[in-house]
Amino acid sequence: MTFAELWRELEPLGRDVGTGGYRRYSWTAADAQCRSWFTRHAEALGLTVEPDRNGNLWAWWGDGRDGAVATGSHLDSVPDGGGYDGALGVASALAAVEKLKVKGFQNERPLALVLFTEEEGARFRVPCLGSRLMTGVVDPATARDLTGDDGITLADAMSAAGADPARLGPDEDLLGRLDVFVELHVEQGRAMAPLDAAVGVAEGIWPHGRWRLDFRGRADHAGTARFADRSDPMLPYASTVLAARQAAEASGALATLGKVIAEPGGANGVSSSVRAWLDCRAPDEAALDETQALIQSAAADAAAAHGVSLDVHRESYTPLVRFDETLRDRIIGVLAAAGTDAPVLPTGAGHDAGILASRIPTAMLFVRNPTGVSHSPAEQATLADCEAGVRALALVLEDLAR
Ligand code: GLV
Ligand code: MN
Ligand code: MN
Repeated sequence: MTFAELWRELEPLGRDVGTGGYRRYSWTAADAQCRSWFTRHAEALGLTVEPDRNGNLWAWWGDGRDGAVATGSHLDSVPDGGGYDGALGVASALAAVEKLKVKGFQNERPLALVLFTEEEGARFRVPCLGSRLMTGVVDPATARDLTGDDGITLADAMSAAGADPARLGPDEDLLGRLDVFVELHVEQGRAMAPLDAAVGVAEGIWPHGRWRLDFRGRADHAGTARFADRSDPMLPYASTVLAARQAAEASGALATLGKVIAEPGGANGVSSSVRAWLDCRAPDEAALDETQALIQSAAADAAAAHGVSLDVHRESYTPLVRFDETLRDRIIGVLAAAGTDAPVLPTGAGHDAGILASRIPTAMLFVRNPTGVSHSPAEQATLADCEAGVRALALVLEDLAR
């Protein structure tokens, strides 16, 4: 199937008709539909599909045990996410293999297509959970207990979907089979449009992390509780939102409070608790740590000033990633030989490629996003650019797997 045909089938899966955004959360019915779309098309290409112990799905071309060239991305989404984030890399991987098969390419080395699970951390709060488990940077027992907003643990969600959570854990055997990983991804930003480039190559990923802030006060009546008597967690939360923006702007970092849950949630009452998530990213780890510490101390001061308690819990942290330079130069050379001058770009977005980069040579291709918007239904890529991405990926895979 061509990219356009694959895309047409994938597009409606997990999309909310009201918002036009995607709600493809791990181990849900939408996730199962996405997995079966991947399996169906990989098998139609003659690939052998198997899950690994961490719920990632792999499709293999070639039966050699070692030296595999891997590509792929994820199909889970943020709440009301765009259609391309992750999905473009998976559909492009299938379309690139189709191209190579049609061309009669005989791969010397095995090719592996992967669909990573829970890349966004939208359900179980730890982004890149599938690749983190695989590389052993997340403890499997801790992972099994991760609990989403619906109160369901990862272990229970996996069991309900027919996967075995007891098998979660580092996968040295699988990692040992992989020589290189190349992830194609939609651009998340607007650097490529002015460069007139459809395809770019990643330089590295900013260090980033996610912190949960629990402000606890006392529920009270909106019409009778005097201000002086209140212990209102919404106030230090609001101060923290503003402090985060100020601290990040001052240090060239980014800080976002994009999710908040106020309990018990009555419009005519003071909240008893406000749970919020801080996402913080910066060009280097010192700036990230300093910015996060400043925000946390502003949050603590504001909480104390309002008689509210504050607990901060770091849910995830990803150090600075620099992708393999030799691999990047090789990819740039392959694309240049085919007439494509691919710019090299840094990104503040996290990716499974960034996790695998600590273990094997890893690279990323970006496909231009004319809106620059991502994690939103406004995310875009033209069909022509997606096809340019597939051609680029096929060239790279052919070069690496020959
Ligand atoms: C993933 O998209 C992230 O950067 O949060
Ligand atoms: Mn994303
Ligand atoms: Mn992504």
